[in-house]
Amino acid sequence: MFIPGEYLWHNSGFDSITGGLIALARQAKITALGTYLPPRILTNADLEKMVNTSDEWILERTGISTRYLVTPGMATSDMAIEAARAALASRGLAAAELDMIVVASVTPDMLFPATACLVQRALGSPHAWGFDLLGACCGFLYALTVAAQFVVAGSHKCVLVIGADTMSSIVDYTDRATCILFGDAAGAVLVEPAEEDGEGIIDFYHEVDGAGADVLYMPAGGSRRPASEETVRQKMHYVHQEGQQVFKFAVRKQYDVCKALLDRHGLRGEDVQVMIPHQANRRIITATSDRLGIPRERVIINVDRYGNTTAATIPLAMRTALEEGKLKKGDLVLLCAVGAGFTAGATLVRWSF
Ligand code: UT7
Repeated sequence: MFIPGEYLWHNSGFDSITGGLIALARQAKITALGTYLPPRILTNADLEKMVNTSDEWILERTGISTRYLVTPGMATSDMAIEAARAALASRGLAAAELDMIVVASVTPDMLFPATACLVQRALGSPHAWGFDLLGACCGFLYALTVAAQFVVAGSHKCVLVIGADTMSSIVDYTDRATCILFGDAAGAVLVEPAEEDGEGIIDFYHEVDGAGADVLYMPAGGSRRPASEETVRQKMHYVHQEGQQVFKFAVRKQYDVCKALLDRHGLRGEDVQVMIPHQANRRIITATSDRLGIPRERVIINVDRYGNTTAATIPLAMRTALEEGKLKKGDLVLLCAVGAGFTAGATLVRWSF
């Protein structure tokens, strides 16, 4: 279990290689944001022509109006690279400054090599190592936590964290229960040492509950059911979801992890200045924020425009918060998500730019 005091106050360590003391960062902070939306727009009116659904039903049950989708031939790394370049440019940093690249995704270009390797090649970052992380809708939060550990430990100065998903590559556009939900996008942040006391990534509270493994998953294409004519015929390479079960778990668990994290710091919902939740369903978001007592105007919602982009929703919502003037330096920000696995997570950040 993570001990907040340890995380915050260990500011020096012993380097076993050089035998000398090395300076460890007290905290890690997000220093830049880049996002990418693909060019195609899929509206509820488009979906009405594809499956038996209605704009009214989709809006009422999910809050979604439009989603952005890739064009044929585009893959997750293409979007991830654009988002990464935007983040680096906004910070004025060269790709050579990167020490590590972590890509959170459930839709990598290929099962291997890791999408992180494809991003590294395109950016041309000779000193960076990296890997992909599979945390579904919590992927970005988990990757952010991993990056923060390396920065706080003092081993890395600049980590690129990307959440990117091409959900349209695994969605069955004849299944009305899932095809209305998802979109494609990528978001990237840079994580670096914090200079000022109290700014940056303060703490996290993450959980997994494997009991949820059978209610949101892609049945085939892995080692359990390798791709075959049979798996294709049975549509096993698409998202399968028991919507109501996921919904009920998400509403309960997203509140629980946020509450546990806030309690650990003696905080209440009203102390949160900006809530940036995973964007799966407007009703899940407002159920969580209302129960926590966070005023609606402090809750960032863009699921109406982009749908559920899995690992990309939180950086996309950070962009929305900045664009709408709702997020500024010094704000106490609560990030949270629940996703396939089940995975669940909450992260507390003192925003730093
Ligand atoms: O980010 C990863 C985690 N995923 C999520 O958080 C998603 C969680 N689940 C949800 O957001 C909701 O469960 C859905 C939006 C997927 C579904 O909403 P719901 O209110 O739970 O609907 P339901 O599945 O209980 O279905 C209600 C009715 C059913 O008809 P009957 O059986 O009552 O006649 C469905 O067949 O709505 C029907 N239905 C639709 N009707 C029109 C299901 N999908 C559609 C549709 N258009 N697209």
